[in-house]
Amino acid sequence: MAASLDGFIARKDGRVDWLETAHQYVGGETLEPGFVEAFLKTIDCYVMGSRTYETALRFEEQGFGWTYGDKPTFVLTSRDLPRTRETVEFHSGDLTHFVNARLRPRFRSIWFAGGGMVAAECLRLGLADEVRYSILPILIGDGIPFFERLDQDVPLHLMEVTGYKSGTVELRYEVRGRPSPG
Ligand SMILES: NC(=O)c1ccc[n+]([C@@H]2O[C@H](COP(=O)([O-])OP(=O)(O)OC[C@H]3O[C@@H](n4cnc5c(N)ncnc54)[C@H](OP(=O)(O)O)[C@@H]3O)[C@@H](O)[C@H]2O)c1
Repeated sequence: MAASLDGFIARKDGRVDWLETAHQYVGGETLEPGFVEAFLKTIDCYVMGSRTYETALRFEEQGFGWTYGDKPTFVLTSRDLPRTRETVEFHSGDLTHFVNARLRPRFRSIWFAGGGMVAAECLRLGLADEVRYSILPILIGDGIPFFERLDQDVPLHLMEVTGYKSGTVELRYEVRGRPSPG
Protein backbone atom coordinates (compact mmCIF):
# COMPACT_ATOMS: atom_id res chain seq x y z
CA MET A 1 0.00 0.00 0.00
CA ALA A 2 0.92 3.66 -0.16
CA ALA A 3 1.29 5.57 3.10
CA SER A 4 2.13 9.03 4.38
CA LEU A 5 5.56 9.33 6.02
CA ASP A 6 3.79 9.08 9.39
CA GLY A 7 2.41 5.68 8.42
CA PHE A 8 -1.24 6.31 7.46
CA ILE A 9 -2.99 4.79 4.42
CA ALA A 10 -6.10 6.97 4.66
CA ARG A 11 -7.52 9.75 6.80
CA LYS A 12 -9.72 8.66 9.71
CA ASP A 13 -12.82 9.15 7.53
CA GLY A 14 -11.26 7.07 4.74
CA ARG A 15 -10.27 9.93 2.42
CA VAL A 16 -7.15 9.43 0.32
CA ASP A 17 -7.08 12.90 -1.28
CA TRP A 18 -3.44 13.35 -0.09
CA LEU A 19 -2.24 10.53 -2.40
CA GLU A 20 -1.88 13.10 -5.20
CA THR A 21 1.15 15.16 -4.22
CA ALA A 22 2.64 17.79 -6.51
CA HIS A 23 6.26 16.99 -5.80
CA GLN A 24 9.41 16.69 -7.90
CA TYR A 25 12.44 14.76 -6.70
CA VAL A 26 14.97 15.58 -9.42
CA GLY A 27 17.21 12.58 -8.74
CA GLY A 28 14.34 10.11 -8.82
CA GLU A 29 13.39 7.36 -11.21
CA THR A 30 10.61 7.89 -13.72
CA LEU A 31 7.68 5.53 -13.36
CA GLU A 32 7.01 4.45 -16.93
CA PRO A 33 3.33 3.67 -17.69
CA GLY A 34 4.43 0.45 -19.42
CA PHE A 35 6.17 -0.66 -16.22
CA VAL A 36 3.02 -0.35 -14.14
CA GLU A 37 1.00 -2.25 -16.74
CA ALA A 38 3.58 -5.04 -16.91
CA PHE A 39 3.75 -5.24 -13.11
CA LEU A 40 -0.03 -5.47 -12.74
CA LYS A 41 0.00 -8.41 -15.15
CA THR A 42 2.16 -10.36 -12.66
CA ILE A 43 -0.62 -10.22 -10.04
CA ASP A 44 -2.91 -13.26 -10.27
CA CYS A 45 -5.57 -12.25 -7.73
CA TYR A 46 -6.39 -9.64 -5.11
CA VAL A 47 -7.55 -10.04 -1.51
CA MET A 48 -8.93 -7.06 0.42
CA GLY A 49 -10.91 -6.00 3.44
CA SER A 50 -14.51 -4.85 3.05
CA ARG A 51 -13.66 -1.21 3.76
CA THR A 52 -11.10 -1.16 0.96
CA TYR A 53 -13.70 -2.75 -1.32
CA GLU A 54 -16.21 -0.06 -0.36
CA THR A 55 -13.63 2.61 -1.22
CA ALA A 56 -13.06 0.94 -4.62
CA LEU A 57 -16.83 0.96 -5.25
CA ARG A 58 -17.00 4.66 -4.37
CA PHE A 59 -14.09 5.40 -6.74
CA GLU A 60 -15.90 3.56 -9.49
CA GLU A 61 -19.13 5.47 -8.83
CA GLN A 62 -17.14 8.72 -9.10
CA GLY A 63 -15.94 7.70 -12.57
CA PHE A 64 -12.38 6.61 -11.76
CA GLY A 65 -12.95 3.03 -12.95
CA TRP A 66 -12.35 -0.32 -11.26
CA THR A 67 -8.78 -0.53 -9.97
CA TYR A 68 -8.40 -4.33 -10.10
CA GLY A 69 -9.05 -5.00 -13.79
CA ASP A 70 -10.43 -8.44 -14.65
CA LYS A 71 -8.41 -10.23 -11.94
CA PRO A 72 -10.25 -12.37 -9.38
CA THR A 73 -10.88 -10.19 -6.30
CA PHE A 74 -11.66 -11.74 -2.93
CA VAL A 75 -13.33 -9.47 -0.40
CA LEU A 76 -13.14 -10.41 3.28
CA THR A 77 -16.39 -9.57 5.00
CA SER A 78 -19.02 -10.87 7.38
CA ARG A 79 -21.60 -8.55 5.81
CA ASP A 80 -23.87 -8.78 2.78
CA LEU A 81 -22.23 -6.34 0.35
CA PRO A 82 -23.19 -5.44 -3.23
CA ARG A 83 -21.44 -7.59 -5.84
CA THR A 84 -20.93 -5.38 -8.87
CA ARG A 85 -18.94 -7.78 -11.09
CA GLU A 86 -18.38 -11.50 -11.62
CA THR A 87 -14.69 -11.29 -10.67
CA VAL A 88 -15.64 -10.36 -7.08
CA GLU A 89 -16.16 -13.07 -4.46
CA PHE A 90 -16.84 -12.66 -0.76
CA HIS A 91 -15.23 -14.66 1.98
CA SER A 92 -15.60 -14.93 5.75
CA GLY A 93 -14.09 -17.40 8.17
CA ASP A 94 -10.61 -18.80 8.67
CA LEU A 95 -8.22 -16.64 6.62
CA THR A 96 -5.26 -19.03 6.93
CA HIS A 97 -7.26 -21.92 5.53
CA PHE A 98 -8.70 -19.72 2.79
CA VAL A 99 -5.27 -18.51 1.63
CA ASN A 100 -3.34 -21.78 2.00
CA ALA A 101 -5.97 -24.28 0.90
CA ARG A 102 -8.03 -22.30 -1.61
CA LEU A 103 -5.90 -19.51 -3.04
CA ARG A 104 -2.31 -20.83 -3.06
CA PRO A 105 -3.07 -23.90 -5.19
CA ARG A 106 -4.82 -21.70 -7.80
CA PHE A 107 -2.78 -18.47 -7.81
CA ARG A 108 0.97 -17.86 -7.80
CA SER A 109 1.00 -14.14 -6.98
CA ILE A 110 -1.62 -13.21 -4.38
CA TRP A 111 -1.76 -9.47 -3.73
CA PHE A 112 -3.25 -8.27 -0.44
CA ALA A 113 -4.54 -4.85 -1.48
CA GLY A 114 -5.28 -3.68 2.09
CA GLY A 115 -6.43 -2.02 4.17
CA GLY A 116 -4.67 -1.69 7.47
CA MET A 117 -6.75 -4.25 9.30
CA VAL A 118 -6.22 -6.93 6.67
CA ALA A 119 -2.50 -6.09 6.24
CA ALA A 120 -1.95 -6.63 9.97
CA GLU A 121 -4.07 -9.78 10.03
CA CYS A 122 -2.14 -11.25 7.14
CA LEU A 123 1.22 -10.61 8.87
CA ARG A 124 -0.02 -11.76 12.27
CA LEU A 125 -1.11 -15.07 10.74
CA GLY A 126 2.24 -15.52 8.96
CA LEU A 127 0.60 -15.45 5.51
CA ALA A 128 2.75 -12.76 3.86
CA ASP A 129 5.95 -13.49 1.94
CA GLU A 130 6.62 -9.86 1.04
CA VAL A 131 5.60 -6.36 2.11
CA ARG A 132 5.43 -3.56 -0.47
CA TYR A 133 5.39 -0.17 1.24
CA SER A 134 5.35 3.11 -0.70
CA ILE A 135 6.02 6.29 1.28
CA LEU A 136 4.58 9.52 -0.09
CA PRO A 137 6.24 12.86 0.62
CA ILE A 138 3.59 14.07 3.06
CA LEU A 139 2.65 13.91 6.76
CA ILE A 140 -1.08 13.83 7.54
CA GLY A 141 -0.96 13.70 11.35
CA ASP A 142 -3.68 11.11 11.92
CA GLY A 143 -5.51 8.38 10.04
CA ILE A 144 -5.83 4.64 9.45
CA PRO A 145 -2.44 3.00 10.06
CA PHE A 146 -0.75 0.74 7.49
CA PHE A 147 -0.77 -2.06 10.07
CA GLU A 148 -3.79 -1.79 12.37
CA ARG A 149 -2.91 -3.23 15.82
CA LEU A 150 -0.25 -5.66 14.68
CA ASP A 151 0.76 -6.49 18.29
CA GLN A 152 3.72 -8.59 17.12
CA ASP A 153 7.32 -8.19 15.99
CA VAL A 154 7.75 -9.17 12.35
CA PRO A 155 11.39 -9.38 11.22
CA LEU A 156 11.90 -8.19 7.64
CA HIS A 157 14.67 -8.28 5.07
CA LEU A 158 15.01 -5.18 2.87
CA MET A 159 15.09 -6.33 -0.78
CA GLU A 160 14.69 -3.15 -2.82
CA VAL A 161 14.49 0.64 -2.44
CA THR A 162 13.42 2.90 -5.29
CA GLY A 163 12.96 6.67 -5.12
CA TYR A 164 10.72 8.11 -7.84
CA LYS A 165 10.56 11.58 -9.40
CA SER A 166 7.15 11.99 -7.73
CA GLY A 167 8.95 11.85 -4.35
CA THR A 168 7.49 8.42 -3.54
CA VAL A 169 9.91 5.92 -2.03
CA GLU A 170 9.02 2.32 -2.73
CA LEU A 171 10.27 -0.29 -0.28
CA ARG A 172 10.13 -4.02 -0.86
CA TYR A 173 10.71 -6.34 2.10
CA GLU A 174 10.80 -10.08 2.44
CA VAL A 175 9.16 -11.43 5.60
CA ARG A 176 11.90 -13.36 7.40
CA GLY A 177 9.86 -15.62 9.59
CA ARG A 178 6.67 -16.04 11.48
CA PRO A 179 5.83 -13.19 13.86
CA SER A 180 6.88 -13.41 17.51
CA PRO A 181 5.34 -11.63 20.52
CA GLY A 182 6.65 -8.05 20.81
N1 LIG B 1 -3.20 4.06 0.65
C1 LIG B 1 -3.40 2.87 0.15
O1 LIG B 1 -2.58 2.34 -0.62
C2 LIG B 1 -4.62 2.10 0.53
C3 LIG B 1 -4.76 0.78 0.10
C4 LIG B 1 -5.90 0.06 0.52
C5 LIG B 1 -6.86 0.68 1.32
N2 LIG B 1 -6.68 1.98 1.69
C6 LIG B 1 -7.68 2.63 2.57
O2 LIG B 1 -7.76 1.92 3.81
C7 LIG B 1 -9.06 2.09 4.36
C8 LIG B 1 -9.60 0.75 4.80
O3 LIG B 1 -8.71 0.12 5.72
P1 LIG B 1 -9.25 -0.51 7.08
O4 LIG B 1 -8.08 -0.99 7.86
O5 LIG B 1 -10.17 0.48 7.71
O6 LIG B 1 -10.19 -1.70 6.59
P2 LIG B 1 -9.95 -2.99 5.64
O7 LIG B 1 -8.74 -3.76 6.09
O8 LIG B 1 -10.05 -2.61 4.20
O9 LIG B 1 -11.30 -3.80 5.96
C9 LIG B 1 -11.52 -4.27 7.27
C10 LIG B 1 -12.81 -5.07 7.27
O10 LIG B 1 -12.66 -6.27 6.50
C11 LIG B 1 -13.43 -7.32 7.09
N3 LIG B 1 -12.49 -8.39 7.45
C12 LIG B 1 -11.19 -8.28 7.79
N4 LIG B 1 -10.65 -9.50 8.01
C13 LIG B 1 -11.62 -10.39 7.81
C14 LIG B 1 -11.66 -11.82 7.85
N5 LIG B 1 -10.61 -12.57 8.17
N6 LIG B 1 -12.85 -12.41 7.58
C15 LIG B 1 -13.92 -11.67 7.26
N7 LIG B 1 -13.93 -10.32 7.18
C16 LIG B 1 -12.79 -9.70 7.45
C17 LIG B 1 -14.13 -6.71 8.32
O11 LIG B 1 -15.34 -6.12 7.85
P3 LIG B 1 -16.86 -6.63 7.94
O12 LIG B 1 -17.51 -5.75 8.94
O13 LIG B 1 -17.37 -6.37 6.54
O14 LIG B 1 -16.87 -8.08 8.31
C18 LIG B 1 -13.20 -5.56 8.67
O15 LIG B 1 -13.84 -4.54 9.38
C19 LIG B 1 -9.92 2.72 3.27
O16 LIG B 1 -10.10 4.08 3.58
C20 LIG B 1 -9.09 2.57 2.02
O17 LIG B 1 -9.29 3.61 1.11
C21 LIG B 1 -5.59 2.69 1.32
